[in-house]
Amino acid sequence: MRKARIAGLGFYVPENVVTNQDLTSFMDTSDEWIRERTGIEERRWVVPGEDTTSGMGVKAARMAIENAGLEASDIDFIIFATLSPDYYFPGPGVQVQEALGIDTIGALDVRNQCSGFVYALSVADQYIKTGMYNNILVIGSEYHSGGLEKTTRGRGVTVIFGDGAGAAVVTASDDANRGILSTHLHSEGKNATELALIGPATSRWVDQIIADHSEEDTSFYPYMNGNYVFKHAVTRFPEVIMEALMANNLTPADIDLLVPHQANLRIAQFVQRTMKLRDDQVFNNIMKYGNTTAASVPIALTEAFQQGRVKPGDLICLAAFGSGFTWASALIRW
Ligand code: UT7
Repeated sequence: MRKARIAGLGFYVPENVVTNQDLTSFMDTSDEWIRERTGIEERRWVVPGEDTTSGMGVKAARMAIENAGLEASDIDFIIFATLSPDYYFPGPGVQVQEALGIDTIGALDVRNQCSGFVYALSVADQYIKTGMYNNILVIGSEYHSGGLEKTTRGRGVTVIFGDGAGAAVVTASDDANRGILSTHLHSEGKNATELALIGPATSRWVDQIIADHSEEDTSFYPYMNGNYVFKHAVTRFPEVIMEALMANNLTPADIDLLVPHQANLRIAQFVQRTMKLRDDQVFNNIMKYGNTTAASVPIALTEAFQQGRVKPGDLICLAAFGSGFTWASALIRW
């Protein structure tokens, strides 16, 4: 069976830098608290009206297509992962298809939050392996800042999240020894409301939302039980990374670079310690961009690639955990 490989990467973040200090102008927080608890120094937030989730996705996609040495017309399928679509429906996959002027190819939207890109990559991997498609555009993009509660009440969530997009072109590998080795996907719906945005939803349509709305109603904002999520994250990351390694008869020592979902620097450091990985085996850029959910893995992977930390023959591990809960890993021989 043929293999799938990543032929081109791209990312885009808004120019507008929001520092920790900037956040203190509208909520009770501090640069010290945010750095200490999350590692984040700054993040990018869209200036309202200047961009969208699909718009950032398109910019990242154009870069990935160019870096793959392809034209938009070579793409035969689109997979778009996000929790912050421009519209409630349709999802942004079709907007990318339109913006790139690609014929009427299929566009699939993935709603797996922080695990979204790895889930999407896994779908692309299967389609390529079976021969159904040849060049799949996989995008993760988030416009978080438009939906965050920018008050002290929302600080536990708001300080963490940043906007941005990352993309990859997945194509058939001409070398049987290189490409995506395996992907591993999980979920645990009993924790669905531990990291969630409850309304709007079909179970709570607009009339009801308006009627119900009160000062105390926070269901329009993302909610996160931070400690609870943290504890699960530091367990699930090593677990799903080990699952991928064991499926391929490999060990943590074989990893050239782990690119984890950029949830919190402390989580990545915990995973690094648990798995006895050296500093050069783990890539982090949350310090600059915050947590960009579905965009974080492809943004980090692109930066790692640009910095020469992803080389032909390297064993690259992608891993993610987040809302759902869902978590996933992918092992790639670059
Ligand atoms: O990406 C998808 C998955 N998400 C994650 O993996 C995130 C997992 N969770 C986390 O990263 C961490 O739990 C957080 C960064 C969200 C929070 O860090 P924490 O060390 O768990 O802090 P905490 O929620 O236990 O809060 C500690 C204190 C509280 O005050 P008291 O009750 O001790 O007086 C909070 O009210 O810090 C307070 N606090 C803040 N203070 C200043 C919470 N948020 C802030 C803030 N600035 N932004």
